[in-house]
Amino acid sequence: MSTEVIKVTINGKEFEVPKGARLIDVCRDKAFDIPSFCYYSDLALQASCRMCLVRIEKMPKLQTSCTIICTDGMIVTTQSDEIEKAQRSMLEFLLANHPLDCPVCDRGGECELQEMTFDWGGLEERFTEKKNYQPERYLSPMVANDPQRCILCKRCTRVCDEWMGEDAIEAGGRGANTVIGTYGGWLDCSQCGNCIEVCPTGTLLDGTYRHQARPWELTQTISTCTYCSDGCQMSLGSRGDELMRIVARDRYVNGLNGEFLCIKGRFGHPFVNHEARIRTPMIRYKKGGKLIPTTWDEAIIHVAGKLDAIVDEHGRDSLGVIGSPRITNEANYLLYKFATELVGTTNYAVTDTASLKPFFDSLGGSLATHRDIRYATTILLIGGEPEELQPLTGKQIRQAVRNGGAKLIVVNSSPIRLTEQSSQFLHIRPGAEVAAVVALARDADETLAAGKLGVEARELQSLRQTITDTQGDLVVMFSTELSGTAQAVLAQLPYALRADGRRVLLHPLPRYNNSVGAHDMGLNDGSKSVTQMLDDAGETIRAIYLAGSFLPEHLHGREDALSKLDFLVVQELFETDTTAFADVVLPAASFAETDGTFTNNDGFVQRVRQVIPPVHQSKSDWMITAQLAAELGMDFGFELSASAVFNEIAERIPAYAGLRYPVLKDESNPVQAKYRIAEQRELAPELNTLRDAVEALSDTADKLSVTPPVGHELFKIGTLTDKVPQFHLLAEGNPRPDTVRVSPLYQITVDENLRQETAVAAD
Ligand code: SF4
Ligand code: SF4
Ligand code: SF4
Ligand code: FES
Repeated sequence: MSTEVIKVTINGKEFEVPKGARLIDVCRDKAFDIPSFCYYSDLALQASCRMCLVRIEKMPKLQTSCTIICTDGMIVTTQSDEIEKAQRSMLEFLLANHPLDCPVCDRGGECELQEMTFDWGGLEERFTEKKNYQPERYLSPMVANDPQRCILCKRCTRVCDEWMGEDAIEAGGRGANTVIGTYGGWLDCSQCGNCIEVCPTGTLLDGTYRHQARPWELTQTISTCTYCSDGCQMSLGSRGDELMRIVARDRYVNGLNGEFLCIKGRFGHPFVNHEARIRTPMIRYKKGGKLIPTTWDEAIIHVAGKLDAIVDEHGRDSLGVIGSPRITNEANYLLYKFATELVGTTNYAVTDTASLKPFFDSLGGSLATHRDIRYATTILLIGGEPEELQPLTGKQIRQAVRNGGAKLIVVNSSPIRLTEQSSQFLHIRPGAEVAAVVALARDADETLAAGKLGVEARELQSLRQTITDTQGDLVVMFSTELSGTAQAVLAQLPYALRADGRRVLLHPLPRYNNSVGAHDMGLNDGSKSVTQMLDDAGETIRAIYLAGSFLPEHLHGREDALSKLDFLVVQELFETDTTAFADVVLPAASFAETDGTFTNNDGFVQRVRQVIPPVHQSKSDWMITAQLAAELGMDFGFELSASAVFNEIAERIPAYAGLRYPVLKDESNPVQAKYRIAEQRELAPELNTLRDAVEALSDTADKLSVTPPVGHELFKIGTLTDKVPQFHLLAEGNPRPDTVRVSPLYQITVDENLRQETAVAAD
């Protein structure tokens, strides 16, 4: 928006507003209420509900404020008898065909139509004609639908198209019989549920939660998603000790994601209260024997005794301490402290898919926030598939292009869905991303890189030209599966690519909700990686203390590593392939049962809040570590609160200096960690290493020509998503049931064997 300022008078008061501002936004910003149904900030205009009427001087009739751009000297009235009469009439029209069934509607109590009707008061229904009847139905396992409640605001179709790029629902039928429906009668999409979230009425509903609770029964607690590194803010609705639902509806929460959530954030929570949660601490007294339930005291004494004995006999480095990219900063920090201050082992790590250490050690510019992505001029995406793995980032990219005119350059071996939005797609050979990094960093390697990438040199020149032409923000984002050396070179790119009028921001795409935080807590600084520790199991590594479980890729090819350990202690929510070898299993609390923080891929340090009491006998991971440390003779001094742990993090970790929980309280104003910006340095050694790697790449490998289907990552069944019955239907291809009137869960039997075969993802 322009920095030029103009003057507008609203209800007799004069305001200075930016030139180009939209009248409805200005009125709301200045605290003048404007009713609306179809207007939705940052979506294409619909202008169909006519609720946002205002009077503008010198204009002949009432105007829709959502369609008006402010002009200098504009004089506006937002409240008058004339305006109220018109708005009341519009509401009466909307209700003409709407069933008056609020008491049985799942949206009752948080419905915008209901709220507006009550707010106006005294509305009478003068239409006596028979209302259109439309039966309730399911559009998919996740989305339930009561078509007769629809007011045709088309927020749902616009978010599906503009946020998700899916265009999976559309208005069908004519006139009074128009309904929102699917193509082909069944919803084949990413099942994000954003159409449900933005629907102002009870037309689109959460099919997994429907009829289970009323909104006023729920306690709403704002917290951070536990799945991917985007760190969406969400409202967790609990009733008693049970987590009932998750929404992002901004009447409850106003975070970096607005009303956006993906399928995992919105629907992936039933693991929290699942009956398979580990109930008590358990000890396997004899290798190969059974895990026997025990008390916390007994388990802690047992673990402390064993670890003490092993360290005494084999030395400090014989114990590996391994944190998790899924648990809080507080929990990972205490594991780091346990390893370095109490045990004194150099073997500590985190069960992530990649280490972020090379990237952060060489960081040459700021991290891009999701807002920066939305308003970027150019976005360069190297590898990765954010629409499946970091869906909020995917949505921001899409909106930057569609609603903001940004240029997107995709460098990928697959024609991923985001290529539909790209201005340039470098379709490269599988595994050749490193060649793109080399070409960006050193012109001299362009010919070699082009050959290995399988693209023309002019395609690389065009990429370079787009960067040179960029005025505004260039966001470079990349999959963290790239080698460490390639990440270090990428991290220094801001020095090479920035120019007058051009900022270069970096956006890594790590896999997990707290990949960045686990790095920040120091767990990537150990002398051995997770796989190196597993390779040394039974030799130099005799025992492992682990929060969470190993990833399938860690154990792949090392299936016997865990059985070689003298002692394995695991903090977990569920029994897994890792706990099957554990000598002690300690029940850990989920994200909904603990306080703490996660750090997302923007570097935002965001609060995780306890929503329900710990399930069964579980405890927060940080508390377990503190208890174990106390038994081993070191009092961490954090008996009472996660905030005390965080205060120590803020004292010891420079990027978190000055942070406190109260500073992180407001999710609408997230706080970014202050990462040290590394100086520009000579990259020749790294580039020579990368050049060797590029030379070793194939010249002939076939490119992947098929666009991966929607949900191929999102619908994978892992330890957590396994606990959501609807995910199994999606993993089986989202079969259409015989009738759409009854939930497909009651009509389709899930094949248990298939469930096992697909159980490879870590979520
Ligand atoms: S669930 Fe998401 S992708 Fe599917 S129709 Fe709704 S908005 Fe579109
Ligand atoms: S289904 Fe909801 S969001 Fe979509 S047009 Fe109807 S009322 Fe609007
Ligand atoms: S995009 Fe990531 S953080 Fe947001 S809801 Fe989905 S999984 Fe959670
Ligand atoms: S909000 Fe302006 S016409 Fe609907």
